[in-house]
Amino acid sequence: MKLLVVGSGGREHSLCWALSGSPLSEVIYCAPGNAGIAEVAECVDISPDDIDSLVDFTKTNHIDFVLVGPEAPLVNGLVDRLKNIGVRCFGPTASAAQLEGSKRFTKSLCEKYSIPTASYRHFSQIEDARSYINEKGAPIVVKADGLAAGKGVTVAMNIEEALAAAEDALVGDRFGNAGASIVVEEYLSGEEVSIFALCDGDNVLMLASAQDHKAVGDGDTGPNTGGMGAYSPAPIMTDVLQAEIGDQIISRTVSAMKSEGIPYTGVLFAGIMITDSGPKLIEFNVRFGDPECQVLMMRLKSDLLPALIAAADGELKDFDLRWHNQVALTVVLASKGYPNKFKQPTEISNLESISVMEDVKLFHAGTARDSSGKLQAVGGRALNVTAVGETVTEAQQKAYKAANAIDWPNGFYRRDIGWRAVAREIKKI
Ligand code: AMP
Ligand code: GLY
Repeated sequence: MKLLVVGSGGREHSLCWALSGSPLSEVIYCAPGNAGIAEVAECVDISPDDIDSLVDFTKTNHIDFVLVGPEAPLVNGLVDRLKNIGVRCFGPTASAAQLEGSKRFTKSLCEKYSIPTASYRHFSQIEDARSYINEKGAPIVVKADGLAAGKGVTVAMNIEEALAAAEDALVGDRFGNAGASIVVEEYLSGEEVSIFALCDGDNVLMLASAQDHKAVGDGDTGPNTGGMGAYSPAPIMTDVLQAEIGDQIISRTVSAMKSEGIPYTGVLFAGIMITDSGPKLIEFNVRFGDPECQVLMMRLKSDLLPALIAAADGELKDFDLRWHNQVALTVVLASKGYPNKFKQPTEISNLESISVMEDVKLFHAGTARDSSGKLQAVGGRALNVTAVGETVTEAQQKAYKAANAIDWPNGFYRRDIGWRAVAREIKKI
C-alpha cells in the first residue's frame, strides 16, 4: 500500500517507524515530516494546514491510505475531503472531531449521555461568567471553547485568576474565535492518565495506557507544554479501572456519537482524572497524544497498519493487538525558552553515539538538516529519547543515559520524567 502520514512531530515519526515495519506498506510519504522521519519515509513539503494540496497529492500519487496525526486538519475537514474522493483514511470527520474542537460540544454530549466528567456551564457573556465564578469559588477551571493550541485552559487556584482568564477570552479576544465562548468547570483532583482507543464508528479497541508530564519544569512545575515526557503503561491503571473507563467513558461516547448521527472513527484519546469518586473525563483529543504515541509505538508488538485499516473500514469487532510487557519511557528534549520564545535553528550533534545503545530509540520532532547535512533544531520540542525496560526505573535510566550523550547546547530536558511511577516502584521494594 502507498501510505501518507500527515504531520511533523515525534508522534508522526513513531507512527512512520511503526508503519515502516508493516509488510503491507510499500511506500510511506510524510507531509511535511522532519529529519528523523526522512530516514523511514519520503518527506513531502506540504503543511498539514494546506488541505487542498494534501488532497491533490493523494490523488496524483494514488495514495491508498492516509493517517492524519494532528488535530487541526481533522477539525478542518481533511478526512471529509479524502472520503469524498474515495480515499480510505484514519481519523474522524470534521463533525466528529468536535470532540476535541469544541469543549462545549463534548460537555453537552457528556451531560446528555451520562458520561462522567466535571460539572460545567457554558458562557459567551462576561457578566454571566463572572457571577458563576464568584458563586462557585476557587479552585475552578476556565477553558476556551475552541482549539487554542494547548493554551486555552486555566486551572485557577483563586477567583481572581479565574476572572482574569474569563476576561482574557471573552473581552480581551486572547484566543480569537476559539475563545469567543468559554466553559467554566469544576476542579477535579486526582492523578491523570491518558487512555487511547481505536474506534470504527461502532466498536472500540482499547490500547495501552500512558501518563505524560505537561509542565515544563521538574516536579511538574511551571507553564504547561505539549508534553515533556511520557511513559506506558500507567501504573495507576488496574484492569478494573480500565474496564470502567472503557465502558463508562469510551464506549458510551462512541455509541452517543453514533446516536447523534456523527459516528466516530479514528483514535480517541481521553484525558482522565482518577478521582476519589471514580474516573472522570477531563477532555477528549481526536488524535494520538504526543509524546504518548511514541511510548505506545515502542510497546506495540502487532502490526499497526491492519488495525488502522480495520478502524477505517468499520471492522474492529474482535480485532486484537498485542503489546510488549516492558515499560517504555520517553524524555522530550526542547529548545531553551520553550514553551515561550526560543532561538532557532540551533545545532544538535552526537546522535550517533546513542544509535548503538540497546533498548533506546530516538524519535525526532522539530528537526531539519541544513545545506551541509548538519542536524538543526527548528522547533520547541526537537527530540524524544525513548527507552524500554523491565521497570519504569530501568527505562528511565536508559533514556537519561542516552539523553545525556546528546550534544545540544541550546537544548534542555526535565530530569524527572516518570517520577511518580519510580517512587511507587521504590516503595514496593
Ligand atoms: P486540557 O488542555 O483540557 O488537556 O487541560 C490541560 C490540563 O489542565 C489537563 O491536563 C489537566 O491537568 C488540567 N485540567 C483540565 N481540566 C481540569 C479540571 N476540570 N480539573 C483539574 N484540572 C484540569
Ligand atoms: N501530550 C498531550 C497531547 O498530545 O495533547
